[in-house]
Amino acid sequence: MVTHALLAAALTLTAAPAAAPAAAAASAPAASAQAPVDCARVKCLALTFDDGPGPQTPALLKTLRKAGAKATFFLVGKKVEQRPRIARQTLAQGHAIGNHTYSHTSLPRLLDEEISQEIRVAQTVIEKATGYRPTMFRPPYGHTDERVLRTADEANLAQVLWSGTTLDWSLQDAAKIKKTVLKLARRDGVILMHDTVPATVKAMPDILMELKKQGYHLVTVPTLLRGKGPKSGVSYP
Ligand code: NI
Repeated sequence: MVTHALLAAALTLTAAPAAAPAAAAASAPAASAQAPVDCARVKCLALTFDDGPGPQTPALLKTLRKAGAKATFFLVGKKVEQRPRIARQTLAQGHAIGNHTYSHTSLPRLLDEEISQEIRVAQTVIEKATGYRPTMFRPPYGHTDERVLRTADEANLAQVLWSGTTLDWSLQDAAKIKKTVLKLARRDGVILMHDTVPATVKAMPDILMELKKQGYHLVTVPTLLRGKGPKSGVSYP
């Protein structure tokens, strides 16, 4: 019995990452379980974190778990190679993960073949680390064009941009980042932050508390899209 349960859990984690929220609910501590949220009925907001996994990511995951909040992480392939376990843990806690290229370079200046390479190598690295092949992609610096979108589509990826950016990397101050997030928050919004910015991770317990007080449900981008996406070749929001 026990052996079977463990084996089933292991198989679920490695072979069926699409079912990660269910797996997390079954095997992880209760705090990481989240009842299905219907964003058509309640006020939802998607927090997104780019450029990791980094040294601060485990602390951020802990904060999110305590708050029962879900988020979306756009991972850089090169960083996933350095911290594959953190990438795996992010997914196992019910968060969504997406592709943020292999080396975090501005794509529109590259040749078609190079753009494709950046996206595809990141897909492979992320899948190798987590068992999950992303369906979402975010171009570094938000630099994109028709070619980038088409190349993402060829890799079966939707493009996810944002409705508000905190510029947390330039603020580098927890109080200012908190203020900016609260100003940008709106129903169905997608907020861009970075788990590589220590002040962002530091500000997050306060930010989550305040957003929840304002009635927000903190969800992943796919949850925000209410089952209507992400669709390959489409740019959101
Ligand atoms: Ni980035």
